[in-house]
Amino acid sequence: MGFALILGLALLSGGRFTVLAKPAQKMAFGKTADGQDVELYTLTNKNGMHVAITNFGASVVRIQVADRQGQVEDVVLGYDALDGYVRDQAYFGAVIGRYGNRIAAGKFMLDGSTYTLARNNGENSLHGGIKGFNKAVWKAREMAAQDGPSVELTYLSKDGEEGYPGNLSVKVVYTLTERNELKIDYSATTDKKTVLNLTNHSYFNLNPGGRDILQHVLVIYADKYTPVDSGLIPTGELPSVAGTPFDFRKPTAIGARIEQDDEQLKLGHGYDHNFVLHKKGKAVELAARVVEPATGRVLEVLTSEPGVQFYTGNFLDGSARGKGGKEYQRRSAFCLETQHFPDSPNHLKFPTTELKPGEKYHSTTIYKFSTE
Ligand code: GLA
Repeated sequence: MGFALILGLALLSGGRFTVLAKPAQKMAFGKTADGQDVELYTLTNKNGMHVAITNFGASVVRIQVADRQGQVEDVVLGYDALDGYVRDQAYFGAVIGRYGNRIAAGKFMLDGSTYTLARNNGENSLHGGIKGFNKAVWKAREMAAQDGPSVELTYLSKDGEEGYPGNLSVKVVYTLTERNELKIDYSATTDKKTVLNLTNHSYFNLNPGGRDILQHVLVIYADKYTPVDSGLIPTGELPSVAGTPFDFRKPTAIGARIEQDDEQLKLGHGYDHNFVLHKKGKAVELAARVVEPATGRVLEVLTSEPGVQFYTGNFLDGSARGKGGKEYQRRSAFCLETQHFPDSPNHLKFPTTELKPGEKYHSTTIYKFSTE
């Protein structure tokens, strides 16, 4: 397998036998209670950056990247072993589906039929329902991508799963490029009209030795956001961020306004809101940029999606034991979940999340690391 992959890479480079990328390294990660084997794939680039992916939930387990002194550290939350992912309630690193974020009252209409979803967040359906894509064992294979080592994960979500219509074939390809980008390509097809909103739920802390993420300096390229009600469902309005704690158009510390007396911050218990990116169309453009001043690490998020959920780990409470037994406390990490807006199936003015038979869903997000 390894040899075939190297040969493939060499052929891709036009017959010159230069190896463009080291193939992913595969190792056992454990077995699920129903006996399915789960693997861990480690992607390494020539800069010494490593990304580990498991086919349980198509989850990102580790992102190890240098700071400005060259010190390599793991900048995402997660667990050392499969067991942690099986029990996880926080969606660490996972691919979220069929629908990222909430659908109000777990109901929506499509072509005159009402669909009722599994409810797992009060009366709402969150992140795909009770058993979302984050709890599925995906099929995985290493790929000979030209721009770096890569893993392809596929999953068939059956008609009626968690209440969603249509057999949905989903593919997620993770590639680690030589430019220190973790590129995520999502694609899907269905045999019946359905709704779909895929994202990745990595929790970042660019200074993992530090206490929380409040000193990280953030830019979100968004003029508007979607305010929420008490169930964290968008009200449907798209107000300007100007003059609010949601204005991240200029570099601002995450913690600068998080405790302000603001109704939306109270409803979200901090930031837990979708931002309307000011990009147009499906081009992959910069959505957000985060700088961690102590380590100099920089994370840029680029996406083809129209929105990003900025979440400050408000529900983390130290109860889940993470890597090395670490207790992940409130606000010890942030998420930038690229997406269509929450509850879009019930907001016809939001960009549509419908997918019809014969159409191909395609979405790309890039997490790019550097230092300054
Ligand atoms: C998203 C939601 C949050 C929370 C996290 C997972 O960011 O918007 O409210 O559910 O996922 O804990």
